[in-house]
Amino acid sequence: MIFLFLPLSVLWSQDRTDTRARITVNTDLGKEKISRHIYGHFSEHLGHCIYEGYWVGEGAPVANTRGIRNDVVEALKNSSIPNLRWPGGCFADEYHWMDGIGPREARPKMVNTHWGGVTEDNSFGTHEFLDLCEQLGTEPYICGNVGSGSVEEMSDWVEYINFNGISPMADLRRVNGREEAWGVTYWGVGNENWGCGGNMRPEFYADQYRRYATYCRNYGGNRLRKIAGGSHDGNLHWTEVMMKEIPLHMMWGLSLHHYMTDWGNKGSATDFSMEEYWKTMTMAVNFGDLLDGHIRVMDRYDPDGRVALVVDEWGTWWNVEPGTNPGFLYQQNTMRDAFVAALSLNHFNERCRRIKMANLAQTVNVLQAMVLTQDEKMILTPTYHVFEMYSVHQDAVLLPVSVESDLRCGPEGGELPALSLSASRDETGKVHLSLVNIHPEEDLQMVLDIRGMEFSAASGRILTSDRISDHNTFEDPEAVHPVAYTGLKTVKDGIELKLPASSVLVLEIQ
Ligand code: AHR
Repeated sequence: MIFLFLPLSVLWSQDRTDTRARITVNTDLGKEKISRHIYGHFSEHLGHCIYEGYWVGEGAPVANTRGIRNDVVEALKNSSIPNLRWPGGCFADEYHWMDGIGPREARPKMVNTHWGGVTEDNSFGTHEFLDLCEQLGTEPYICGNVGSGSVEEMSDWVEYINFNGISPMADLRRVNGREEAWGVTYWGVGNENWGCGGNMRPEFYADQYRRYATYCRNYGGNRLRKIAGGSHDGNLHWTEVMMKEIPLHMMWGLSLHHYMTDWGNKGSATDFSMEEYWKTMTMAVNFGDLLDGHIRVMDRYDPDGRVALVVDEWGTWWNVEPGTNPGFLYQQNTMRDAFVAALSLNHFNERCRRIKMANLAQTVNVLQAMVLTQDEKMILTPTYHVFEMYSVHQDAVLLPVSVESDLRCGPEGGELPALSLSASRDETGKVHLSLVNIHPEEDLQMVLDIRGMEFSAASGRILTSDRISDHNTFEDPEAVHPVAYTGLKTVKDGIELKLPASSVLVLEIQ
């Protein structure tokens, strides 16, 4: 919980006239856990996310394990990826899972109508995806086909993946080389069913959800966590109908999608004006209010917070890189994207009572990617670094924080708070703070008042760069990367520091 008092016209102490912010961290309070699943990811059969992003095939010159690239697995593991949503996206509602099992050379082909009209040869299917998740040490989140599939098809998929006994689907799985059921917990029942997932009206989809969810069975000790296809952006009506028409015990979660873009004019990922920067920062700051709107609706129908809000697609969406297939959504990723990630993750942390899962779109080579690949090369994006730095919040207890800061920024110079932060205490008692200064020119001198603990050490890592358009390239892969932060000064009961302009800082206090 953050208490924000703005604006602040007085400075904090007579002798510290440069101090612009005072933050009080109550390290001995807090009760809500920040689910690690808030730090989840999403990968669709789209452009070069699956093919070339993860999947290169066993014979490829790129180092791989059973066809899956080692460099990408290694990088994502290092960022502590907690879950991965697949196979879409819009693709999920035209995907027929049986086409993606059995000998690869015998798998039928299909047209990926949503994403470039390319031929999908189904060489990456259920077994390959679950192998990827095992290599990553991450939980799979599978989205079923409601738009063009059937109840039986989805029910069979659950049986194929989760049933350990003798049955037609479990036997088929064994024929295809997998003895043990995988025991997948997270299942989405369709995707964007108000749009690409069938253009349904909310009442109709709510009934469809009830049907599909009924036949997605629990096998053995595995209890499914079923997620209803949710709303997008500020459409509260869809959320309201789902909460009203679907019995709460039938859904573990309700999804929400939000892309921070101007759909009429997305602009370049790397070559953008200050006006565009502020437009994006305004959306990222206001994302909190948008989430609160949906949470308020959910609170009305579910005051105890039984149903999770699952933000299973979010991120930036720019014009594709010049010369690339417009249907492949390949974009670069700058410090501006890093700020969107950092602000959004702070929003999710603060709302962890209701938000139990979120999935950045999309992990490799698509939209706000964590990593980009080019043949045998791979680079980490600024967004990757934010996720890796923020991973300390996973499964930690959210701490109440009060913030007093007068630094504002924005198109007219004053609409947006420059500072965003979030704090948590992990199970070993370490306290972490993630701080963001989106002001491109002004540093923020601050005092942290650390209450409720005797601390003996504090350290930090910072992600910053001269220009907000700075990014990593295959020629210069380390242009933007986190470094140790050396500007901490311990004072009585607290810490003084300067949060530089355009930076993301994660502190550890113990
Ligand atoms: O992430 C790209 C697309 O955006 C997804 O397929 C769809 O769900 C959303 O509209």
